[in-house]
Amino acid sequence: MDKSGAGPAQPISTLLEEKRRFPPPGGFSHQANIHDPAVYERARQDPDSFWEGFARELIWHRPWHQVLQWDPPHAQWFLGGHTNLSHNCLDRHLPHRADKPALLWEGEPGDSRSLTYGELHQEVCRFANLLTDLGVGKGDRVSLYMPLIPEAVIAMLACARIGAVHNVVFSGFSPEALQERINNAGSRILVTVDGAYRRGQLLELKEATDKVLADCPSVEKVVVVRRAGKGAPMTPGRDLWWDEGVAGVSTQCPSTPLDSEDMLFILYTSGTTGKPKGVVHTTGGYMVGVYATTRWVLDMKEDDVYWCTADIGWITGHSYVVYGPLLCGATTVIYEGAPDYHARDRMWRIIEKYHVSVFYTAPTVVRAAISWGREWLHERDLSSLRLLGSVGEPINPEAWMWYWEKVGGGRCPIVDTWWQTETGMIMLTPLPGLTELKPGSATLPFPGVEAEVVDEQGQPLPHGQGGYLVVTRPWPAMLRTIYGNPKRYIQAYWNRFPGIYFTGDSARKDEDGYIWVLGRADDVLNIAGHRLSTMEVESALVAHPAVAEAAAIGRSHPIKGEVLVCFVTVKVGTDGPVNLEAPLKDYISDKISPIARPDQIVFTAELPKTQSGKIMRRLLRDIAEGRAVGDVSTLSDPSTILTLQEKYKGAA
Ligand code: WT7
Repeated sequence: MDKSGAGPAQPISTLLEEKRRFPPPGGFSHQANIHDPAVYERARQDPDSFWEGFARELIWHRPWHQVLQWDPPHAQWFLGGHTNLSHNCLDRHLPHRADKPALLWEGEPGDSRSLTYGELHQEVCRFANLLTDLGVGKGDRVSLYMPLIPEAVIAMLACARIGAVHNVVFSGFSPEALQERINNAGSRILVTVDGAYRRGQLLELKEATDKVLADCPSVEKVVVVRRAGKGAPMTPGRDLWWDEGVAGVSTQCPSTPLDSEDMLFILYTSGTTGKPKGVVHTTGGYMVGVYATTRWVLDMKEDDVYWCTADIGWITGHSYVVYGPLLCGATTVIYEGAPDYHARDRMWRIIEKYHVSVFYTAPTVVRAAISWGREWLHERDLSSLRLLGSVGEPINPEAWMWYWEKVGGGRCPIVDTWWQTETGMIMLTPLPGLTELKPGSATLPFPGVEAEVVDEQGQPLPHGQGGYLVVTRPWPAMLRTIYGNPKRYIQAYWNRFPGIYFTGDSARKDEDGYIWVLGRADDVLNIAGHRLSTMEVESALVAHPAVAEAAAIGRSHPIKGEVLVCFVTVKVGTDGPVNLEAPLKDYISDKISPIARPDQIVFTAELPKTQSGKIMRRLLRDIAEGRAVGDVSTLSDPSTILTLQEKYKGAA
């Protein structure tokens, strides 16, 4: 996403106010990894020592001589230090945890596999040795186009082990999107599979890659995992099967000590606007930031069984499916398929089956579960859960309350975590043993992180006023550049406010200093001179009993500037379109303000979303203004747009 778009010229009005408060449930604080409120002040006074404390809990082959060097906008962390992330995720645990499950995998058809730390270590070593045999060395790029199977995790850790740079491309992306990312990264190796299961269908990923490999001149070898056992066309000399490649290869592979600032991975942001950007993360700072936040926010302990539903194609999959939990020596659950396959209780069955204790998912998943109805949870035993997390977009208070009551049984804190591909680690978040929660707020910056809400001039705004969300101090897991495009790094994040990181989001602070993220700055509505956040209107809409999901956008209007158009999906079993339009307009007008009375409500079976579940409001604006729609290449289901265009013509 481009973070340089135009934003609020004046502060954003906020009209909704959430009054509910939830202190940490009884007994939680006591056992939490952090329950001393003094950490905030300690980190503020001496951030370098604060981060250093976490770094010292990990293994370094050579110590750093300086914690941070900041030449805005370029940061280096743990200068002079040598370490290896794969070593810290695996070898560090072997003395005590070799026989403990590291990875519990469930395939969509119901097959499963478990790997202990000892076994995962061996598999990673074997694949690292194979990569070395194929000529891969430090700094070489390796692209992965794979579903969520153990080999994907193994391949990431194997790259990290030898200093190769992984570039994971979400397996739901089109071959063209893959091609663009392979070429931009200049990958020498591609790792893929013969087939992946999604909602009962077999996706032929190897066939898909063959369509574009002729136009990927940097790729020398393609390693193919037999996931589906169906075979695949193999080009002699270029393609090899994973199992044949690693057969007989040594299970010993000492990790390569890497410089703290050596590149660890590239990850392209799918974004809701603009061309994909290759976000670059490096070794030492990323490791420390992810470790610290997994320990304190996800409260990760060695005996936790932890499930984050993200795919490894997203940053959440990197930081909090693979690296964070393994750094903590916990057990991480990975599931290949769709949350509603074979039935709409699949997620709750997985939690029950593996006794998941910490569960981290996205608001879009929570809202989908709400729309499916609570009967899917009734017979499931979710008593193993002790902590819940949310990430990806603002979680509206209605969804928060449902998550709290129906999933967490009122005993589990919810950590609403705000962060980005670019930040690498969680930035705004409650600490679950300390923070009083307010549904819908990501609360406070993590200790050592400094964030502000500012106006157009970069001046901090008084409490209650909406403006831009910025980060005012460097943090260890921050992106270092945009791969192959250092100008774009500066232009997208650092030009607007020199020396200050521009997030591209709008937010406001309340009287307690809690931050409420309002959405993307370029999604703000301007109705008759009043600036409203799309998030507030949507949040109010989904609080209506018949509404499952909603997207609010502004359509330009000659007099009012913009009028409000809402796209709405209704819950199963309610008949929306006929009876609901007028009542919903009244409802919004009551709940928010007559200014926010929608001009039009369009009912739709689906909203256009990115593969990671974010609503693409930009496309809805195109539709509402009767323009040809922009780039749809990152859309999860491009046909949604056609249906909506038809529908919109009918409604307009
Ligand atoms: C954008 C980053 C971070 C991993 C997944 C998304 C939105 C993310 C929250 C939250 C409100 C949120 C922001 C942000 N976002 N988490 N808890 N509350 N908004 O990574 O694809 O890089 O997207 O997601 O708009 O800028 P991403």
